[in-house]
Amino acid sequence: MALAIRFHDQRPLEANDSLREEALSGFAHSPKSISPKFFYDRRGSELFEQICKQPEYYPTRTEEMILSQAANDISDIAGAHANLIELGSGASKKVRLLLEAMRPASYLGIDISEDFLLSSTRRLAADYPWLDVQAACADFSQPMSLPGEFESERSVAFFPGSSIGNFTPDEALAFLHNLNALLPAGGGLLVGVDLVKDKQVLEAAYNDEAGVTAAFNLNVLERIRAELDSNIDPQRFVHHAFFNEQASRIEMHLISTDAQDVDIEGERFHFDRGESLHTENSYKYTPEGFRSLAGKAGFKAIAMWTDPAHLFSVHYLQRI
Ligand code: AVJ
Repeated sequence: MALAIRFHDQRPLEANDSLREEALSGFAHSPKSISPKFFYDRRGSELFEQICKQPEYYPTRTEEMILSQAANDISDIAGAHANLIELGSGASKKVRLLLEAMRPASYLGIDISEDFLLSSTRRLAADYPWLDVQAACADFSQPMSLPGEFESERSVAFFPGSSIGNFTPDEALAFLHNLNALLPAGGGLLVGVDLVKDKQVLEAAYNDEAGVTAAFNLNVLERIRAELDSNIDPQRFVHHAFFNEQASRIEMHLISTDAQDVDIEGERFHFDRGESLHTENSYKYTPEGFRSLAGKAGFKAIAMWTDPAHLFSVHYLQRI
């Protein structure tokens, strides 16, 4: 089978340079922090796949259920032969739930990680021989351009997984504005958004019994130790995740178990006992809250699907 996918290289900075820069600036800052985008090296991506299978982590299976049940509705709204653009396509699993119902004219997977992008889009091309599969290696949080046929009003961007929750509401607004500029008038945005809910349910999802989320969180320190010149010891930090109701977000932190100095690339950073390195925010929205944010970025709410327990939502928005 010829796996002819068209590849568009809009590759961002070398991953390693940005880890160095962002670790040095994030550790120098008070409170200390590092971006959750550094979770996803090969091991981190595998751990994330494991998180998605944990009984406490409801978002993945709930979104998949919603997508499979809504696939025909989504197809009706998007219209026949849409051009489907998946942002942060990763393993390109969720889009498979839509392909048979939507029968898009073409599919473009956009991801920052070239390895993952090429292997998953090749698999997609092999499994759906009727589909024109393309791949763009790009950082979609930065302004970018689309290949010609995707600049049509039939284009629908797909952003599943509540990845939008990693942005602060201000960043999410800026991101939606970028998407608005990228898509033509009439273009669609299908986006998965995790919902505000009971604190116990939320906190359990980020503190699974098996400790997979803890390992995922600590993996960012493994990366710093392996990829940079650093003596950081992941064993001297513990995973801490809780729901900040005020800010409507899950916060993930790594807490220093004792007072210690950590060297990174010749710079020394002090941690007090109990001091935190903030590694992730995962914002939770109400349906109205998310619609109002999208409205500010020039998107009209067309439809929303949810599960019976209202754990998760999938929104179809249209660029005005
Ligand atoms: C990929 C950002 C949606 O916030 O739930 C899972 C990442 N972090 N467990 C989320 C994550 C810890 C996930 N997102």
